[in-house]
Amino acid sequence: MKTHNQLIVALDLPDPGHARKFVDRLGGSVDFYKIGMELAYAGGGLAFADELSASGKKVFLDLKLHDIANTVERATAQLARRGIEFLTIHAYPQTMAAAKQGVAGSALKLLAVTAMTSYDDADLAAAGYRLSVRDLVLHRAAQAKAIGIDGLVASAQEMSELRRAIGKEMILVAPGIRPAGGDLGDQKRVATPAAAIRAGADYLVVGRPILEAADPRAAAEAIQAEIAAARG
Ligand code: C5P
Repeated sequence: MKTHNQLIVALDLPDPGHARKFVDRLGGSVDFYKIGMELAYAGGGLAFADELSASGKKVFLDLKLHDIANTVERATAQLARRGIEFLTIHAYPQTMAAAKQGVAGSALKLLAVTAMTSYDDADLAAAGYRLSVRDLVLHRAAQAKAIGIDGLVASAQEMSELRRAIGKEMILVAPGIRPAGGDLGDQKRVATPAAAIRAGADYLVVGRPILEAADPRAAAEAIQAEIAAARG
């Protein structure tokens, strides 16, 4: 795996016009982008994903799908025709199995979201769960693996334990990355790029530390250098 590709830049921007300008600014320094709900649901958001793929960039659609099995299967089958790389779904067994059917025969890889990182044990209890966040994450990770889901999105802070639990095969993607001394924004459970790679992450998702940098290209290249150094 090329070090270069392990950085995924989150295009958390309001519309394709802003996103296109930003991608142009980063030029050849970044070749993997995440499109979340904000941009996907802006007019032309999915067409912009196609545009990025056609220009040779890889695209991660972070849509966190969850619905009845029939709808999830049909929705993932639609997305599997678009030439994107990764798609997120919630880690409910029915949803995961249906999504797996939907992408069958395509190159689209599914990433399961085990528990939102904004949830703590009290939030899960309020939602009617009797498991702690840790236990729910491990339970769902095991189910994702059994169903044949390609990977998981997880906080870098829980990644070592998750990596040990699921083995080497599944792809682990870590958001909440902050270069040492960086502004945390609303993220609480952060890790540096080097720490996330050492904990077993295959890909790092980085938004604001690059989006808000005075020189975004230099910020992206510094993170790539840190990834390379951590890989040794
Ligand atoms: O700006 P920042 O680097 O915090 O952006 C992180 C990106 O990763 C955002 O697009 C956010 O939606 C996403 N994300 C996250 N935590 C998760 C899953 C996704 O921050 N658990």
